[in-house]
Amino acid sequence: MRNLKKTVRAVFALTVLIILSIIVGSFIGSELSYRVTPEYDYSPISYTTTTLIDPNFIEGKIYVAEGQDGSDLQVTKRLVIKDLKIQTSFETIHTDPINEVVFLGKLSKSEVIERLQDNLKNLFSEDKEKYQNLTIEDFSFNLSERTNLSSNTLSIGNIDVFMGNCNFYNSLKLNYLLSLKNYEFSGIPEFENSLCEKYKVPDEPFPTNCTDCTYYPVDKTHPLSRDYAIEVINADGIPGGQKFSKAAYGHLLDLYSAAVAAGHNMRLTSAYRSYTDQEEVYEAWVQYEMGFGKSRAQAESDANTYSALPGFSEHQLGTTADISSLDCIGIETVCAANESFWLWLKDHAHEYGFVMSYPFGKDELTGYIHEPWHYRFIGIELATEYKTKYYGRSYPAEFLRNKKLY
Ligand code: DAL
Ligand code: ZN
Repeated sequence: MRNLKKTVRAVFALTVLIILSIIVGSFIGSELSYRVTPEYDYSPISYTTTTLIDPNFIEGKIYVAEGQDGSDLQVTKRLVIKDLKIQTSFETIHTDPINEVVFLGKLSKSEVIERLQDNLKNLFSEDKEKYQNLTIEDFSFNLSERTNLSSNTLSIGNIDVFMGNCNFYNSLKLNYLLSLKNYEFSGIPEFENSLCEKYKVPDEPFPTNCTDCTYYPVDKTHPLSRDYAIEVINADGIPGGQKFSKAAYGHLLDLYSAAVAAGHNMRLTSAYRSYTDQEEVYEAWVQYEMGFGKSRAQAESDANTYSALPGFSEHQLGTTADISSLDCIGIETVCAANESFWLWLKDHAHEYGFVMSYPFGKDELTGYIHEPWHYRFIGIELATEYKTKYYGRSYPAEFLRNKKLY
């Protein structure tokens, strides 16, 4: 009896061995070694080659074989042992070489990145004229679910390229060509369409005809028209006696509630200002500067480092507010309550859709001094993108210019 059992076991093991050898051998190639593991449990139970099979294979269990299919590609196959046969419907998954977790082949992640960098360089040197002003400072991968675009092309994610000369990230789609064993980029027309060269700040003011200019990149070269006005309401729920965009007021109230909850007595020092309001504000500051004995030209130039010319102020949008603490007289920079409130705003305003228009250290870019109190509404999604990817690198109007949503 015992001998019979032994014989049955030996026949079973031998049969499994033979079947596995034949079928595994048919996709393994001759000399390559496969690591075979039970699916859902990745602790290897054996290392097998075409000639060695671990007798511990259990009938009915699914095994995963990882290895290479004779090309440079990593493949994963599923084996099922059933009725002493291996199911023949094996699935072959070509695994992208960037994904180190399953890649056991020849390219390391850094080598893959190097290869991609070369691909990018080739792409940009193909059409020198078009790309001459493009500087690539940085790029990052966003790997997504692999998708088979065709039997030869795997979509494996995208690559975000930071274009240094326009402070803007742009995406190229990243594919892997199975036959060429190499990467290619697609989505090039969209990429080119938003090359910063096209959106360079023009020397002359760039007129707008937007009717809703919420996303218009108002700055020293992008003025609003004299008669641009949106519907504004009294911002009654927030101290300061100001007016604000009716459409965006709910967001300002949300910011207000969060600020108060965080212990900041928020007040609006200034919010909506019409074109003519701005004429008055700007002129008052010019007069103030002239009070120091400066010429009109000098006074205008100095005033314009902190006060916008009529038409050039974001306050005309109705979605911009100067925010301070009731515990200070106004927007004094030396008042502790303002200082701590502005630090809080810097970290949280984007959660309510607001961005700091004139960030620290960007005077040369914006043409205005740092204004930690001046916030503009651009929506939560854009504000969060700006804050997380561009803050410290760029300023909101430049970000909006590249987004071209107007
Ligand atoms: N203080 C900013 C620049 C404005 O006047 O809109
Ligand atoms: Zn302001």
